[in-house]
Amino acid sequence: MLTEEAVAKIEEMASHYPVPKAALLPALHVAQEEVGWLPREAMEEVADLLGITPSDVLSVASFYTMFFKQPVGKHVIEVCTNISCSLMGADECLEHLQRRLGIGVGETTPDGRFTLKTVECLAACGNGPTLLMDEDYYEDLTLEKLESLLARAEEE
Ligand code: FES
Repeated sequence: MLTEEAVAKIEEMASHYPVPKAALLPALHVAQEEVGWLPREAMEEVADLLGITPSDVLSVASFYTMFFKQPVGKHVIEVCTNISCSLMGADECLEHLQRRLGIGVGETTPDGRFTLKTVECLAACGNGPTLLMDEDYYEDLTLEKLESLLARAEEE
């Protein structure tokens, strides 16, 4: 499932650690970048490459929200709903996104453009409400900012 380039990259990364298992997090990033999410076959390949068991890989992948265990849309929106963001209006932002996209948390729009998720904390608590879309942070969110963010993403 992984390309030769991805395999080579994982092997090269693993060579920098005292034990290959230590390269698990970056290896999962490589696999997810390539496939778009982490299907069982990709996790098994990573396990083989690092000489660990698939359950070792799954236990780590399932702990971190940034690793997707099911297919996701082109854009993944992760809204922080932890206390600071919640007090600053995260719930309203989340409700707006659900209404606007017509999906619930954990779902993907039928056109495959957006997946909506919640996360516990994005470490940007002073500027809530905060969300992460793909690899970019958006802070001090308002409904207007959300609309402009969605409009830009819809044009891509
Ligand atoms: S509580 Fe939202 S970023 Fe920390």
